[in-house]
Amino acid sequence: MRRRKKFLLVVGARPNFMKAMPLYRALKSKFDIFDPVLLHTGQHYDYEMSKAFFEDLELPEPDIYLNAGSDTHARQTAKIMMGIEDVLMGDNYDLVIVFGDVNSTMAAAIAASKLLVPVAHVEAGLRSFDRTMPEEINRVVTDVLSDLLFATEPSGLKNLKSEGISDEKIHFVGNLMIDTLISYREKAARSDVLDRLGLKLGEYALLTLHRPSNVDNPQKFGEIWGALMEISEKITIVFPAHPRTKKRIEEFEMPIPHSIRLLPPLSYIDFLALQMGARLVLTDSGGVQEETTALGVQCITIRENTERPITVEVGTNWLVGTSPDAIKDAAFRILNGESKTGSQPPMWDGHAADRILEVLEEWEPY
Ligand code: UD1
Repeated sequence: MRRRKKFLLVVGARPNFMKAMPLYRALKSKFDIFDPVLLHTGQHYDYEMSKAFFEDLELPEPDIYLNAGSDTHARQTAKIMMGIEDVLMGDNYDLVIVFGDVNSTMAAAIAASKLLVPVAHVEAGLRSFDRTMPEEINRVVTDVLSDLLFATEPSGLKNLKSEGISDEKIHFVGNLMIDTLISYREKAARSDVLDRLGLKLGEYALLTLHRPSNVDNPQKFGEIWGALMEISEKITIVFPAHPRTKKRIEEFEMPIPHSIRLLPPLSYIDFLALQMGARLVLTDSGGVQEETTALGVQCITIRENTERPITVEVGTNWLVGTSPDAIKDAAFRILNGESKTGSQPPMWDGHAADRILEVLEEWEPY
């Protein structure tokens, strides 16, 4: 019998979990061909930022947990690299699979390629062309080191080609996160989160905000917060806050009106249910731009750029920048009935994991 292909799937931070789940499950279903091992770096460690997602997504406990925790970028990246190096030196892996653009993604790609273990990058080629964003550095470094690059949207293909990455490494497969959304949207529709929070369908706005460039500077955060307070006079804003943002709200002593409902981070199903029922979503997240496009919900992106242009080109994403006037203008237009009629980006059809599996079945370890 042929030896099974042994893959190390590396996850670490909240947005990784919903991307890894469908692929992990698909690989497990072909247990005669693949031997997937799930490693959690511990970059995110709070129950709400990590375990709650494993529970909602019915993922097993990770096979390996590194406990890297929070630190400066270099220290966190170094801890993860050291942990992954130990794991890779202790066993023979054929491939390391990394997801998205967080520090765990780049750290795993560097550690693996130094040991000559091939790397596959899921969500390759996205570019904001803004190197002040830590994720952009993670994307560029991970892509240049990867042997298999799985792109979610056409811009990813174009960017990789223009950076000189050879065609045979690149595969346009669609979006694993949307596989997860499609398989859990019915369950989310049955969630009682709106009742628990006393909200009515279509009568609230949902907010996420955690980019360092938006929340770490008191003046910038203050300006954005001012716009949000004005919007909340017209519609209740529900705000499950990232721990980084919660700390900043306390540190900068931001006023919290009753019309902004500050909550702890929510689980996957509850957050999906809130997106599905929202009149509009305001965000600076990457994934939320994609999920709202898949759901056809109007999304105001509080950023100057996006690495996910397909959500603006064919989806429901309003990329407005970070000026208070632009944020308010977009929100009031939506509240007055304007909307972007979105369509589904190509291959966001719930079958990205199947396409990746086909590539991995063909792919031979070296
Ligand atoms: C990380 C990703 C970002 C992603 C976000 C999603 C990087 C560079 N950034 O940002 O791309 O959009 O995750 O959530 O990888 N903290 C906790 N509990 C936790 C985790 C973090 O309290 O479980 C706090 C700590 O104070 C920590 C801070 O949040 O210092 C930032 O965490 P970190 O993982 O460094 O970056 P994120 O801002 O979460």
